[in-house]
This record gives sequence, structure tokens and C-alpha cells, in this order.
Amino acid sequence: MDDLRDKYLTAIADAAGESALEDLRLAAVGKKGEISLKMRELGKMSPEERQVMGPKLNALKDEINSALAAKKQALSDAALDERLRTEWLDVTLPARPQRQGSIHPVSQVTEEVTAIFADMGFAVAEGPQVESDWHNFDALNIPGHHPARAEMDTFYMHRAEGDERPPHVLRTHTSPVQIRSMELSGAPLRVICPGRVYRADYDQTHTPMFHQVEGLAIDKDISMANLKWVLEEFVKAFFEVDEVELRFRASHFPFTEPSAEVDIRCSWEGGTLKVGEGDDWLEILGSGMVHPKVLMAGNIDPAAWQGFAFGVGIDRIAMLKYGIPDLRAFFDSDLRWLRHYGFAALDVPTIRGGLSR
Ligand code: PHE
Repeated sequence: MDDLRDKYLTAIADAAGESALEDLRLAAVGKKGEISLKMRELGKMSPEERQVMGPKLNALKDEINSALAAKKQALSDAALDERLRTEWLDVTLPARPQRQGSIHPVSQVTEEVTAIFADMGFAVAEGPQVESDWHNFDALNIPGHHPARAEMDTFYMHRAEGDERPPHVLRTHTSPVQIRSMELSGAPLRVICPGRVYRADYDQTHTPMFHQVEGLAIDKDISMANLKWVLEEFVKAFFEVDEVELRFRASHFPFTEPSAEVDIRCSWEGGTLKVGEGDDWLEILGSGMVHPKVLMAGNIDPAAWQGFAFGVGIDRIAMLKYGIPDLRAFFDSDLRWLRHYGFAALDVPTIRGGLSR
């Protein structure tokens, strides 16, 4: 019995790892272990012998089991110490100053525009990018034969063989969200609708997908004067200048009457754009008073309500404000470009905290 005890206690003390320890447990106190076999022999002993050997064997079994448990604990403590030694991390180190990711100029400018219009009481509305032909065209007073449909280089969705309904389109502008907002909320209404739009066009200033923000205000006694004030406030706030000169040029859109395209005074001296000075004019948006037919399409009575609307190219004003020369690079996902033109995350634009820094 003493030999067994010495043999196992020494082996347990020397065990190199948990699997060696498990082998020892099986060899000593497992079902067919040496001590278990000895215990089975108790049955063949005389009652006197059994009275001596029984407690001794039980005590030995207990001693080996607790040696096994203690060793197991020691081994797992050692394993943990080893992990802590190799996997340590100093959480008191300051954060890495190097920027890991950045906010795309389109996201930045969308946030800036949203902050400016939120300050003037405009809510944000959204609509689908795959739009019904009716919302994108007819409801906006662009009937089937209208040349504006061809001019827009529309992408049409696939239509099943034999389906006579007009195919859905990738929306060519954010104006259909005007209709959806009217349908949803009725008048009065004050919304901006930022989002992606699509036209089949590709060069230095055109990409097949780009971004617009639509504005729509409907109320009683709204006029061009309100439109002009809102746009001037917007342009000043966006370009972060005190004064800016706008030029309202008579234009035509089927969904507004009268219509105006808006240019801002700027200079290109030395190749960089300066807003508010110089002799050049730069077109930045289309606008006008909402056409009565458009109000009717949105279930709003044109005898009681008027409104103004405008559409701005987000990518375009991003290029202007941040001096980005080629629109195509916006959508190349080139990390060098994003690091150069991107904005720090968590630097949320607000009117009072500053828009762009
Ligand atoms: N939807 C027009 C465009 O994409 C812009 C616009 C919007 C013009 C609202 C007038 C009013 O060119």
C-alpha cells in the first residue's frame, strides 16, 4: 500500500500536463485502476482483514484524488499565467493617433446639408431607389412622350416577357420623394430628401450613380421670396461664408412653374475655387414653385396650398466646397483618396459646433 502511495503521489507531482494527469487518474482510481482493483479484492478477504484494509484503501483513494485535484488546479493556474504573459494588453496606453477609417465626403456633405436644413425646420424624408415610372415621371408632370424622359438617360428595370405595365426605373432624381412625402404627410410640409440617383452618363463630372438632396416646402402663402431666402441661407451656411451672391436664372422643369436655376458667384483664380468673389458663375441647383399638377398628384389641393422645391447635387457641392477635381474618384474606393479627402469619424457637423471642423 505504501509503495502504491509513493508511486502515484510522485508521478502526480511530476505530471507535465493535464493529459498526463488524466492517464494517472485512470491508472490509479479509474474503473480498472490499480487501487480500484485492490478495492475489488476486499470481497475475497476475511472480515478481519477487510476491517483493516477497507479504511486504508479508502484513505489512500481519497489522498490520491485530492492530490490529483490539487495538481490539476496548479496546472491550470500555470496555463493561465502563461496566457497572461503572452496575451497581455496595456489598456492604459493612449489611443493610436493614426486614423483608422474616415467619413466619405458624400456622407459628410449630406450631414452638413441635413444640419443646415434641420435648423430651418426641415425634416428628412426618404424614398426607394427603384422607383415606379409614375412617381419618377408622370406624377411630376413628365408624361410618356415628354423629351425630359429621353434627356435623363434613364436606367429601366427588367420587365417580364408579356408584362405590359411600364417598367420601374432607377430614380433619375430625388423629386419622386416630393410625391411620396405629399402622399404620406399631406400639407403643410417641410422636408429634405437626400439620396442616390442614377443616370447613364460617365465623364469627369458625371457618374451613373450620384447623390442629390431634394427640398420641398408646402404651406399657405409661400412664394419665390421664401425660396430665395432659404437658398441664400443654405448657401452661406454650407460654404461657411458671410456673404454670397446668388443668380436666379429663368429655366424650365416640368414639375415647377416658374422655374429657376441658381448660380453662385465664384472665382477660379489659380485653379482653386473661391465662393463669393470673382467674375465666374457656377450652377449649383434647380428650383421653382411646385406645379399645381404635382400638388394634385400628391393629393394636395393647389387652390389652398403652394410650395417651393429645389434639387441640389450633393457630389457637386462636395467637389466645390472641398476642392475635389474628379467626380469618378468618389466611387473608386481608393484608400489613398479616402485618407486625403475623408473626414474624421465622430466629427458630427452641427450649425453651432461648426460644419466642416
Ligand atoms: N429634379 C431636378 C433635376 O434632377 C432638380 C429640381 C428639383 C428642379 C426640384 C426643380 C425643383 O435636375
